[in-house]
Amino acid sequence: MEDFRIALLGLGNVGTAVAELLASTQDACLARAGRRVVVDRIVVRDLTRPRAIPENLPGKKQMGTDPLEAVHDPEIDAIVELVGGENHPRTWIRESLESGKEVITANKAVLAVHGEELFNLAHEKQRGLYYEASVAAAVPVLQVMQQGIPAGPVDRLFGILNGTCNFILDQLEMHSFEEALKNAQEAGLAEADPTLDITGMDSAHKLILLARILLGHTVPVDELRVEGIENIDPLDISFGWSQDLKLKLVGILERNGRGTCMGVMPCFIPAQHRLANVRNEDNAILLEADPFGSLVLQGKGAGGKPTAGSVVADILRAARGDSSSTPPAGKETVILDPGMRPARHYLRLEVPDRPGVLARVAGALASEEVGIAALEQSENLSEVHDSVPVQILTHPVQTPQLDRALGQLDEDLRNISSPVRIRIEE
Ligand code: HSE
Repeated sequence: MEDFRIALLGLGNVGTAVAELLASTQDACLARAGRRVVVDRIVVRDLTRPRAIPENLPGKKQMGTDPLEAVHDPEIDAIVELVGGENHPRTWIRESLESGKEVITANKAVLAVHGEELFNLAHEKQRGLYYEASVAAAVPVLQVMQQGIPAGPVDRLFGILNGTCNFILDQLEMHSFEEALKNAQEAGLAEADPTLDITGMDSAHKLILLARILLGHTVPVDELRVEGIENIDPLDISFGWSQDLKLKLVGILERNGRGTCMGVMPCFIPAQHRLANVRNEDNAILLEADPFGSLVLQGKGAGGKPTAGSVVADILRAARGDSSSTPPAGKETVILDPGMRPARHYLRLEVPDRPGVLARVAGALASEEVGIAALEQSENLSEVHDSVPVQILTHPVQTPQLDRALGQLDEDLRNISSPVRIRIEE
């Protein structure tokens, strides 16, 4: 059979690891794909930067800086997009599909935002759009959800979908947020600009791609509650420990009779929960459905090598012409806020250490019928600060109900630092 000719767009952490893996597993790739995979083009931003391209990587390895040259090269069978971002990749993927090429990408943002257009185009052109590496890096969760479990409703998905955030939350047991983020960057997990990770948006993009398999359509990101970990403090983690709770950034999808609850938020979960001990940059996805009860898929969710494994698996599927990775379209469903299901919440407020302050906090909570189940305030031993953290556990309430109560706090209380509130998913 003829060689499968690919162009690699992007030679960062993931691109380099893909080149290394293709070079070091040539025989296994040939056995699995039934044809040789050759890298004929490599597109980078800066040609002057030294690159570690393996000598034995098969193919012409022609270097260039213009992705469109590769996209329009009739000799190329597949484009492997590992650049990231939304707008440029949208054009490259579109034009690749239009010119009859297969597309493999690890880019969740472009598919979460422009997925409908790109999946429809792939379907119309009868080309594969492969994206296993875009969700949970090394974990073949999309394959499992599409082919490995019975078709039919998964009632609930509960997942740790961002390796960088999971790593940071673990590190907060011993470090400040700034140190934890720096450690994640040094470990090659967080981007130089980690905004998408720590704001929860990267998890939201992944949740949208998982939901597309379950629901059959792309949910617009602005329909979701998306909250990140940027205001989490080691104090929150240690309070959780004292209550036998672990803090995780989770994506939630739950079907009920009225629609689908979907969102991303930091949540406390019981220390004995199946995802509580998912450590470091691991991701884990808990699926619940009637035929199989529940199952957990877990593995490395970030980093060059783990992501490269899934990219190469997709390249081999594309070389075999197995394009079943493109999910079929389905009916729209109503998207609901998971915060509407009543739950206990944890609150941390930094308040002035003055008489009457706690009464004002309790009054604001009472104005929305939010009951206090437990409260902790340590003595202020600082000579510099006049404020103290107050940590509260509420009785079960809806998240918007609690937010309305927090909105009632006097301005001078709110201004010291915005309150942190975290749902407790039992
Ligand atoms: N930045 C992502 C994470 C990896 O930390 O999970 C790529 O999706």
